[in-house]
Amino acid sequence: MAGRLDGKVAVVTGAGSVGNGWGNGRATAVVFAREGARVLAVDRAPEPLSATLDLIAEEGGTAQGHICDVTDSAAVEAMIAAAIAAFGGVDVMVNNVGGSRHGGPTELDEAGWRAQIELNLTSVYLGCRHAIPAMRARGGGAIVNIASTSGQRFTGSPQVAYASAKAAVIQLSKVTAVEHAPHGIRVNTVVPGQLHTPLVEARLAGQRAGGDVDALLAQRLARIPLGFMGDGRDTAHAALFLASDEARFVTGTEIVVDGGMTARCD
Ligand SMILES: NC(=O)c1ccc[n+]([C@@H]2O[C@H](COP(=O)([O-])OP(=O)(O)OC[C@H]3O[C@@H](n4cnc5c(N)ncnc54)[C@H](O)[C@@H]3O)[C@@H](O)[C@H]2O)c1
Repeated sequence: MAGRLDGKVAVVTGAGSVGNGWGNGRATAVVFAREGARVLAVDRAPEPLSATLDLIAEEGGTAQGHICDVTDSAAVEAMIAAAIAAFGGVDVMVNNVGGSRHGGPTELDEAGWRAQIELNLTSVYLGCRHAIPAMRARGGGAIVNIASTSGQRFTGSPQVAYASAKAAVIQLSKVTAVEHAPHGIRVNTVVPGQLHTPLVEARLAGQRAGGDVDALLAQRLARIPLGFMGDGRDTAHAALFLASDEARFVTGTEIVVDGGMTARCD
């Protein structure tokens, strides 16, 4: 069976993971390579990135690693140049890097606010800014941005900068989609809910449940109508559809991957 991304070159940022298991970027890079894409897997940290590259190699996929801080414009420009040098162009750009910090306006200091906007929003702007010219040179492409249900609802923790940045990612995607539709570039967003990714063990349990992983997982699970927790592979499968030609008539919108969490109001 032909792969759903055969012939495509995809750049996936944040393709490592903060721990062992299926983070969103790692899962996306692996699933995209499995479906035939040649993947530039990007991270600022070499170790988790090489684990992702190993997984792709084990399945016989094609990928190259690239180290880049996606909040640095010159580095993002060089990342796109690296994809072109390695694989001849860019068809798909997944802007996945992001991460939350706890706190409302009175707890989060100004430096923390600015760092969150850089990490979660400026990174997406830079990915679009530098990928779009390469896509225009190919006659089109697909951008998939990774937001969060925190950008749509209060999801149990005050993280005002993260929520604001993720809401902005959804709107950035819509504006960019309309502007670049005439160039054959589609721009969509995946909105993951509260997943069980390695982030839970690596950071969230310490921030929100006194280090008690099981307590945090129970809190998160209680909010999910489907009654189980998704992981990075669920985000990856939504991104796969949006990146593929199956979504040729889909742009400026989002797929919410949250087990029904944001559909309920209690
Ligand atoms: N995990 C969840 O439950 C969840 C839920 C909703 C949304 N999301 C979103 O999904 C995305 C990925 O989250 P995750 O939990 O799978 O990721 P993760 O934190 O496990 O991995 C992200 C990777 O990004 C890399 N990274 C961090 N900053 C970077 C930078 N400046 N430049 C390049 N690489 C950088 C890290 O080294 C890491 O390997 C984020 O945008 C996050 O906000 C996650």
